[in-house]
Amino acid sequence: MSFIEYGDTIKEGDTAIVFLGHESMFPVKVQHGGKTQTKYGVIRHSTDLIGKEYGSKVTCSKGGWVYILYPTPELWTLNLRHRTQILYSTDISLITMMLELKPGSIVCESGTGSASLSHAIIRTIAPTGHLYTVEFHQQRAEKAIEEFEEHKVGHLVTVKTQDVCKNGFGVTNIADAVFLDIPSPWEAVGHAKLALKHEGGRICSFSPCIEQVQRTCLALEEHGFTEITTSEILLRVYNVRTISLQIPDLGKTADGNSSTGVDGGSLSNEDALCPNLQQETIQFKSGVPLKEMVGHTGYLTFATKNLF
Ligand SMILES: C[S@@+](CC[C@H](N)C(=O)[O-])C[C@H]1O[C@@H](n2cnc3c(N)ncnc32)[C@H](O)[C@@H]1O
Repeated sequence: MSFIEYGDTIKEGDTAIVFLGHESMFPVKVQHGGKTQTKYGVIRHSTDLIGKEYGSKVTCSKGGWVYILYPTPELWTLNLRHRTQILYSTDISLITMMLELKPGSIVCESGTGSASLSHAIIRTIAPTGHLYTVEFHQQRAEKAIEEFEEHKVGHLVTVKTQDVCKNGFGVTNIADAVFLDIPSPWEAVGHAKLALKHEGGRICSFSPCIEQVQRTCLALEEHGFTEITTSEILLRVYNVRTISLQIPDLGKTADGNSSTGVDGGSLSNEDALCPNLQQETIQFKSGVPLKEMVGHTGYLTFATKNLF
């Protein structure tokens, strides 16, 4: 198992996702002799997981079953242990596209936080790119290093424990893209410019508040960045539902048929007196938006460093 390529079978040391439903899943570190409790009973790693194919339906000790899924950055984002606020896949998708990330890209990021975005960046820039991520909180940096090694992507990332606003990214003139998710990104814009390649590159800063955006945009302008734009991306999720609608009874037409044109069959006298009891319904499938949608996460400010 590695977060940058697919493997068929579950192996000792893998991080697998135990899937009980869309609202219920969790990661598990697969170990010989290991046991994992679920509401459907125990999963025994040696017999139920190791050697089985990813995607398998695994029966737990109480007879219920779960699916075991191969970990992807998207599933990891939904399942990782939060050390900080994290970025979710909706924002990550726009960041990836607007920073023009691809295999081979060199990227600088700060802070690492819970490494939700880091995993997605690494998957995109593999196998030849590299991520330099800066996190000034010692324990968070160490936890991220541990996870990158566990997920077999340690060779694609360098974690530095320093203040990005004071000490920058520790690299110069090598990055194709820089990403900032810190409280005062405007203080890191100068360092971002130094980290980006001489010939130029892209920058993105994520901030929840518009005042942070204003200061960042001013700093970007002062440092000569161009194409400065700020966006917000909102995801609207739909459920597929069968809808039943009553067909209005508009009375009888001159020829005696129901005015709706729907063949209501022959009504008894009783039904004719109480037409609502027999009112026709029509059923169809439709997409229904969820009552609540994810609100504001943050503003994404993008800009370009040009050669001239
Ligand atoms: C919101 S979290 C980042 C979350 C991350 N983008 C993710 O998806 O998991 C912000 C992180 O930046 C770190 N941080 C804040 N200011 C920093 C600075 N000046 N230098 C380095 N790290 C900083 C914090 O310790 C925190 O872990």
